[in-house]
Amino acid sequence: MTGDPEFLTLCAAVLETLGLRLDAYRPTQLQRRLAAFRQRHGLRSNAELAARIRVDGELRDRLADFLTINVSEFFRNPDRFAELRNRFLPALLARKPALRVWSAGCSIGAEIYSVALLLRELAPGRNHDLLGTDIDPEVLRRAREGIYEATEMRGVPDRMRRAYFRPVEGGWEILPAIRSQVRFAQHDLLRDPYPRGWDLILCRNVVIYFTDEAKAEVWRQLAASLNEGGILFIGGSESLYGVQDTGLRYVAPCFYEKMPRSGLAP
Ligand SMILES: C[S@@+](CC[C@H](N)C(=O)[O-])C[C@H]1O[C@@H](n2cnc3c(N)ncnc32)[C@H](O)[C@@H]1O
Repeated sequence: MTGDPEFLTLCAAVLETLGLRLDAYRPTQLQRRLAAFRQRHGLRSNAELAARIRVDGELRDRLADFLTINVSEFFRNPDRFAELRNRFLPALLARKPALRVWSAGCSIGAEIYSVALLLRELAPGRNHDLLGTDIDPEVLRRAREGIYEATEMRGVPDRMRRAYFRPVEGGWEILPAIRSQVRFAQHDLLRDPYPRGWDLILCRNVVIYFTDEAKAEVWRQLAASLNEGGILFIGGSESLYGVQDTGLRYVAPCFYEKMPRSGLAP
């Protein structure tokens, strides 16, 4: 596919108009996603798509969203993960020896594995229940495989990389001891019943492309899925501002606490 002239035309157009390197995406997944995008927009070929994005700004933006929608990495937004590590996880662990943590829209699993690594260091030897869910079976396959490329690993401190990963062809594999602590399942936040009883839920950079109504419903459902005193960790560009009746209160940028029990006051 990479030598196909129509694909090269599209690569050039995407690089020029969006600054995105299509050649940096995994070919099989990219091909599948581009085919879905062309079908959705009634475009017959990559050449036609290339021509359209040069003149149609809206389509161009949609393509950018579509292409980056699965992007994830370990410790994405490191300052927020530092807050999780230094403040929220210790507070939760002080109340319960073993935590239940759900990464909703987990993509390739880097987010829930990041939590697994922090818990491993903060509370070793405990039997935490760690779940990653996503709508996309392909990212779940990658999450279970646990092999990551350099860009996805850039937030992992060298010390952790040495302790919890081993080098393999094409990147780094998370050690079975960590991988076996996390389970993955397919779940659609817009259709499926939500699992309950979580101490920490991460739902980050998932609802950004949803309508306001759908977003509000997701926040309400996630709030209902948290235990009292539990924490919701959302993305940096997201907010629950204006969403009524969640039972959540803002405690720090990107973090909300389930009322009424307190103990994590800012
Ligand atoms: C940009 S990634 C975010 C990954 C990770 N949470 C992070 O912040 O790095 C968004 C993920 O949400 C998933 N997603 C999109 N719509 C979804 C839905 N309705 N239910 C569950 N997951 C969904 C996508 O498949 C994608 O893997």
